[in-house]
Amino acid sequence: MTKKKFNPNKKRGNNKAVKKPDYKHQALQQPTEQTEAIRLNKYIANAGVCSRREADKLIEKGEITVDGEVIKELGYKVKPGQVVVHEKSVLKPENRVYLLLNKPKGFLSTTSDPEGRKTVMDLVSKACLEKVFPVGRLDRSTTGLLLFTNDGELSKKLTQPKHQIKKIYQVSLNKPITKNDFEEILSGITLDDEKVFVDDLAIVDGDNSTLGIEIHLGKNRIVKRIFEHLGYNVTKLDRVVYGSLTKKDLPRGKWRFLTEKEVLWLK
Ligand code: URA
Repeated sequence: MTKKKFNPNKKRGNNKAVKKPDYKHQALQQPTEQTEAIRLNKYIANAGVCSRREADKLIEKGEITVDGEVIKELGYKVKPGQVVVHEKSVLKPENRVYLLLNKPKGFLSTTSDPEGRKTVMDLVSKACLEKVFPVGRLDRSTTGLLLFTNDGELSKKLTQPKHQIKKIYQVSLNKPITKNDFEEILSGITLDDEKVFVDDLAIVDGDNSTLGIEIHLGKNRIVKRIFEHLGYNVTKLDRVVYGSLTKKDLPRGKWRFLTEKEVLWLK
């Protein structure tokens, strides 16, 4: 058994000391008041509708009007004071907001639930006036780091398969993992005819039933499926690292705004 010590806060690569982030720093304020002409696709993305690329598609389809006129020209620039409309809604560029929640178990990662169950939105609804959305999903029983933003472009980038960000989970199993299974996961296992590779795997505790797993994939229930495939039940799953963000100074159920530096790291 590879008894690597698992440390989710371990810095990889460049080992320069990192200054403690300024968590008091509030939402990144970008001017809401438009002072110069901006490209229509950027205007739509800034209003939180979708990414710039998706905005181009809305423009091409003739779904956007400016001052009552359908605009299909991709390079069109919106001047201050012009009224941009999509699906009968006037679009207003908003402040970009980025916040990080340490999700407790028992909350769905959806924005609403037809059965009235608790959702993560209940935990961040008072954080800001802007309407933020969770980036990706955590299962209802999974705890740990979940990012929220109204920045559709960043959200899309972080969840796109080719840009999948690094995630580290602490996994508790119903029984100790065997040496063979440990090595099988590291060499890649096949789930639904697809080879799944993890970036790292390590034992956290002495009885080999708590592990750290580093993964880039963002597929549904990916961590649980890996272990279930080999006959284990995941009894606890906690996302302890998301990109360069850790749970440090963020108690369970609490959220904080990202610092400017942290947003730049994600972009
Ligand atoms: N993998 C899972 O199995 N569940 C999660 O919530 C996240 C990753």
